Amino acid sequence: MKILLTGGSGYIGSVTTELLCNDGHEVVVFDNLERGHREAVDPRARLVVGDLREPRPIRETMQAVQPDAVVHFAAYALVGESMQNPLQYFENNVGGGLHLLSALLHTGVKKIIFSSTCATYGEPAVLPMTEDLPQRPTNPYGESKLMLETALRWEQQRRGIQPVFLRYFNACGATEKYGEDHEPETHLIPNVLKVALGQTPAVPVFGDDYPTPDGTCIRDYIHIVDLARAHILALEQDVTGPFNLGTGTGFSVQQVIDACREVTGHDIPVHISPRRPGDPPSLVAGAEKAKRVLGWAPQFAELKTIVRHAWEWHQAHPQGYAGRE
Ligand code: UFG
Repeated sequence: MKILLTGGSGYIGSVTTELLCNDGHEVVVFDNLERGHREAVDPRARLVVGDLREPRPIRETMQAVQPDAVVHFAAYALVGESMQNPLQYFENNVGGGLHLLSALLHTGVKKIIFSSTCATYGEPAVLPMTEDLPQRPTNPYGESKLMLETALRWEQQRRGIQPVFLRYFNACGATEKYGEDHEPETHLIPNVLKVALGQTPAVPVFGDDYPTPDGTCIRDYIHIVDLARAHILALEQDVTGPFNLGTGTGFSVQQVIDACREVTGHDIPVHISPRRPGDPPSLVAGAEKAKRVLGWAPQFAELKTIVRHAWEWHQAHPQGYAGRE
């Protein structure tokens, strides 16, 4: 297949590009390199530097490439930042996404795999979270992803767009080549590993008084390679609609820190800090649909394996990717 992939210099996009190239697919990455890294774009892919907030570059690229399908990652993805600056999220994630949709319609490309999130559900009333739960996002990030899902769904009815919404839980882990390097880093596992690397003295634990067994928040940590494989399965099959991607098992912040202590052999001091606004106590995926329909099965569901892969990447790249743009 010939795939146009937006956001291939980011964390999930880089690994998906790598796996698509491994499988012999032709990949064109469209990316503005604003938050990603040129070094994270697999050299077997062709990189087109462009910004989705402008309508022309993506339309021209789509017309020139004539891809069989599009995989859309490019977006801002920080919940806290979205609360501070909602417009920024709607302009980039919705505005940019609509330019992409318009380019699809203009070129006649039907299939799009869209990087969505469990944040579109907001605070779930029941666990595990299945795809039929109401979508009531509690922050502009989740809302922006839901808005693009909605636009794609209407154009599915109207003009036969074939969208797949992959709603990720907590992406983590790494391959040998590509890993997680955000600035600033807000995610739990890389922040814990920075302590093990001696780059920060202690990791903050945002709240230990949640209604969970050890009082810390529970999340469903899904390996980046398993996420990437789900995209490939969704590309290869005649499917549309939403799929939750998680392991179905939740781990608390405390359990993640314990796993990091075991894998790294480092004490990893913590300091208990106030709750982070907007953090739900527990988010765990019901991912039976992805297993049943896509034939997807997470290979790296064990937390220690996930942490070990992340740890190997961070040890090999203690400063992340060299040349940040
Ligand atoms: N946490 C800490 N200390 C840290 C970092 C995080 O205690 O230094 C805690 C958080 O409070 C949370 C858990 O660890 O309870 C996981 O936090 P992350 O920031 O790693 O991930 P989130 O669950 O907040 O966010 C993830 C994705 C988002 C997505 C969101 C959906 O990164 O893109 O899930 O809720 F929107």
